[in-house]
Amino acid sequence: MDVLVVGGGGREHALCWSIAASPLCDHLYCAPGNPGIAQEAECVPISAEDIDGLVRFAKDKAVDFVVVGPEVPLVMGLADRLREAGIKTFGPSAAASQIEGSKAYMKDLLMKSGVPTAAYGRFKDSNAAKTYITEQGAPIVVKTDGLAAGKGVILCDTIEEAHAAVDSMMTDKAFGDAGNEVVIEEFLVGEEASFFVLVDGTHALPLISAQDHKAVGEGDIGPNTGGMGAYSPAPVMTDAITEEVMNTIINPTVKTMVDMGTPYVGVLFAGLMISKSGTKVLEYNVRFGDPECQVLMRRLKSDILPALIAAADGQLDRFNLRWHDDAAMVVVMAANGYPGSYKKGSEIKGVETANDQAGVVVFHAGTKDENGTLTATGGRVLSVTAMGGSVIAAQTNAYKAIEAIDWPGGFCRRDIGWRAIERKTKA
Ligand code: AMP
Ligand code: GLY
Repeated sequence: MDVLVVGGGGREHALCWSIAASPLCDHLYCAPGNPGIAQEAECVPISAEDIDGLVRFAKDKAVDFVVVGPEVPLVMGLADRLREAGIKTFGPSAAASQIEGSKAYMKDLLMKSGVPTAAYGRFKDSNAAKTYITEQGAPIVVKTDGLAAGKGVILCDTIEEAHAAVDSMMTDKAFGDAGNEVVIEEFLVGEEASFFVLVDGTHALPLISAQDHKAVGEGDIGPNTGGMGAYSPAPVMTDAITEEVMNTIINPTVKTMVDMGTPYVGVLFAGLMISKSGTKVLEYNVRFGDPECQVLMRRLKSDILPALIAAADGQLDRFNLRWHDDAAMVVVMAANGYPGSYKKGSEIKGVETANDQAGVVVFHAGTKDENGTLTATGGRVLSVTAMGGSVIAAQTNAYKAIEAIDWPGGFCRRDIGWRAIERKTKA
């Protein structure tokens, strides 16, 4: 079959790498892709947010199956448009994508389902939001209702900071229309983990555990990013917690979405806060995590394509996935300055040498091929992945690969995996 992957980051490189290896895949397209993806797929210069262009391309090429990577086209209705055109698609409808597209919708859905989550209030009026903050006290969390490229969440230590966050979102429109409504949330304490399930409308098939590092600085300090690294397995996700999450979080969510007439089809990503008093949902996303996807694809032993098709066909109940026992780690290399402002165009050398090391695969995110020279175009630029018999071994291999990459314009965190390693050392 001919397959189209939509997107062009490290997550989509990992998806293309897996899908291209499937014996079922005759021809793989990626829109828009990147120079790394070009080694696995035919890249076509259509933006991931050009809904008309993507539907036209899929029809013209008689593509059999489309896998949508990022959330924005899903929220814009790409999956609906493709299905209307008769093209099988992995990814939720615009209505179901509201679970990521609107935090207020998501929180109400969780309340309706009885799923544990932080206490909250939703506000369209800034004075009402501030009164609620004063009543609740600090620390407290202020979030834009709409999508804000991962930046619309402000953790506030004081009431004054929280009031200022409301002003920046609602009055100054720092995040545009995303801040027309805000959600004010109880501040949760615990350890975060990312949990992924494939959903076919009614059944959810859990994937293996993973954990990412969101903060830019070593020791998990400093501003939040999209993710500076990840590893799998995540020892915090014990079998007991996985079972708790399926029973108290995932299955009730999937059922409520069916009851609401907006069944979910695709990968559902639950951002969890795990604490002694139980596990709560921080957020839902309608896509694979980036960079979590990179470690999941490295550990997947089964062919991914039949699983994605089974999700699209409503047949996941007959499905099982097999995984490699080895651990996987991804270390993200980002442009100096990220997540603040950064320069584009610096040259990157040594990616091939790193790729040649045993068990290493370098996925591209923000790269460009300028007449044979690889340059950086994004904040997060490379996802260096490695396998190993344990998280520590995978970490050693990942940092050895990073040594081979010569890119003065970029940096990485040197402590990816520390929580898993510390847990192991203590045990
Ligand atoms: P979100 O996009 O809602 O997951 O928020 C991004 C990050 O902010 C999360 O990964 C957490 O690190 C943090 N965060 C969000 N909500 C809360 C909360 N209620 N309590 C504590 N931290 C939070
Ligand atoms: N790495 C977290 C995310 O993709 O949102």
